[in-house]
Amino acid sequence: MRKQRIFSGIQPTGVIHAGNYVGAIRNWINLLDKYECIFSIVDYHAITVEYDASTFQKNIIDAARTLIACGLEPDRCSLFVQSQVPEHTELAWILNCITPIGDLERMTQFKDKSRQHRDNINVGLLSYPLLQAADILLYKSEIIPVGEDQVQHIEMTRRTARRFNNRFGDTFPEPAELLSNTPKIMGLDGKTKMSKSLNNFVGILEPPDAIWEKLRTAVTDENRKRRKDPGNPGICNLFTMHKEFSSQEEISEIDRTCRTAEIGCVECKKNLFENMMRCLAPVQQRAAELETNQEEVIEVLNTGAERCRKIAEEVMNEVRGKIGVRKS
Ligand code: AMP
Ligand code: TRP
Repeated sequence: MRKQRIFSGIQPTGVIHAGNYVGAIRNWINLLDKYECIFSIVDYHAITVEYDASTFQKNIIDAARTLIACGLEPDRCSLFVQSQVPEHTELAWILNCITPIGDLERMTQFKDKSRQHRDNINVGLLSYPLLQAADILLYKSEIIPVGEDQVQHIEMTRRTARRFNNRFGDTFPEPAELLSNTPKIMGLDGKTKMSKSLNNFVGILEPPDAIWEKLRTAVTDENRKRRKDPGNPGICNLFTMHKEFSSQEEISEIDRTCRTAEIGCVECKKNLFENMMRCLAPVQQRAAELETNQEEVIEVLNTGAERCRKIAEEVMNEVRGKIGVRKS
């Protein structure tokens, strides 16, 4: 039986954090055997906000080596950089031409980012979800593993596929999002979503002492003011992280002993730190190896791009024929 196709993407923003890891990447690793998987470092998405061209290439390679170190090895999936396959932007243009502006103006991420970047509300920022739709539809992808913040974009992709199919004939399947067990991790402030731009993150390649310093000062259940106050794990972001990095027995034990104040927040954090590092140490080690062997990283990306170009060329030929710019 044919395997269903998975596609997902991540922006090369300079750091991959624990939110990306548990919200998306770890899920990707679990899907590798069951599906045909394509993952992209979406550089053209990242230039919709201010960025530094002189460090951008390094950020792209860093993202690639982190993803490979997490387990996205080339014999198990295709990993490539979006700009290596020019059909992404070609399809995005076509989707721009069948989408009403109002649909894009209503997108939550556009509204948030317009607020954050008041002096750079560019057309690319508005059209961002259509480049994402193009990423997905270009491979006729069926399943899209993402964090919760991306669900609206996948809905938009479905709507766009439907619109294209209605107008030009059945072409694209309507993809479904696939969320992980923890589709939203809060930042170290415990209040806002963990993200690079809010500087409230734990980077998965940060040195252990830096990670400990961040966890040590992270906000927990704010109602627990003194050591002897009982805590409520249900509202503590650190407990959410335990659920991702600790064993079942430890999770139940932390839940119980926090509620009875048998353990304090520092002890709970130390335990989390140890478990987190057990999971991240092999990733950090492989990432360090790849740092001294950039050719290997470039080779992986080139292999991925070559495979993806083949699919992209075929689908774009079909699309060009259907919209009438080429003989079909
Ligand atoms: P980005 O870094 O925005 O390109 O996001 C890459 C992937 O990580 C997407 O699937 C996001 O939904 C996911 N993601 C980003 N931040 C978080 C978070 N704080 N919690 C859970 N998932 C996240
Ligand atoms: N917009 C996504 C994010 O910020 C990244 C992305 C781009 C993506 N293209 C995609 C995710 C296609 C899934 C599928 O996280």
